[in-house]
Amino acid sequence: MPTIEPFVRWAGGKTWLIPYLHKLIDNIHIEHYHEPFLGGAAIFFSLNLSKLSYLSDSNEQLVNTYIQIRDNPKSVINCFLQFKNNEYEYYRIRDNFEPKTSEEAAAQFIYLNQTSYNGLFRVNKQGKYNVPYGFRTNWHYDTRRISLASEKLKNTKISVGDFEINKYKINKHDLVFLDPPYTVSHNNNGFIEYNKNLFSLDDQKRLSRFIDYIKQKNAYYVLTNAAHEEIKKIFTKEGDRIIKLKRNSLIGGRNASREEIFEYIFTNIPQGEDKNE
Ligand SMILES: C[S@@+](CC[C@H](N)C(=O)[O-])C[C@H]1O[C@@H](n2cnc3c(N)ncnc32)[C@H](O)[C@@H]1O
Repeated sequence: MPTIEPFVRWAGGKTWLIPYLHKLIDNIHIEHYHEPFLGGAAIFFSLNLSKLSYLSDSNEQLVNTYIQIRDNPKSVINCFLQFKNNEYEYYRIRDNFEPKTSEEAAAQFIYLNQTSYNGLFRVNKQGKYNVPYGFRTNWHYDTRRISLASEKLKNTKISVGDFEINKYKINKHDLVFLDPPYTVSHNNNGFIEYNKNLFSLDDQKRLSRFIDYIKQKNAYYVLTNAAHEEIKKIFTKEGDRIIKLKRNSLIGGRNASREEIFEYIFTNIPQGEDKNE
């Protein structure tokens, strides 16, 4: 099945990593695939997998959306097509639309993700989505993305929860792709205030112990994280590789400029023929 595009916009999306990751895993045989920080699932959607995959995320609404797209894509699309992209409709759907079914909740989630400002996912203290309208007026959403995603998701177990939720399903020759929220910013710039509460340095250390478990099981892992000294200290493991990747990132709003940022890839996949480093 071909690579398909994520059906949501997601902060920290890994579409840019796909070519590199494919070279990295070219030489290995993968049994089951695990992605416990799923987000927009850019990597999962790019892979050709034959066996059951384990996908999860701690965001309940996001996970419901994946489950509904896998199981009831037509109902999700039918509901989604009733929503119009204008400011009045946006605030009505955001604040007053009460989904009666899980399919309607999924359609509302995709609509808000596509039409809100930057596709951010942010909720207030009451758990209500509070991102303003994005004014993407020339935007057209191709609902075929939902049908394609549904096909690709058929052979998956999708769960909501912490990244350790499917720990005991990990076995020899499985691949676990780990893309946690970044706690520290790139290029040694210190903490990311918002993410510090979402995913603390202690969570990063717990993730490091989780990787030790993956290795004990003789499974493979690939971790992406900010290129930061603190992160290097936490995740350096004997015999494994640390690869520093450079990428250009667009920063700022109206006066946007390009900035070079560095990311680390940590992995126990042995060096093969890839010439990326
Ligand atoms: C950087 S994003 C992943 C982006 C994804 N790779 C993509 O291509 O779009 C990190 C994800 O981790 C989730 N998350 C945060 N804390 C978590 C936790 N403790 N366990 C599992 N998932 C968590 C967030 O909801 C978010 O979707």
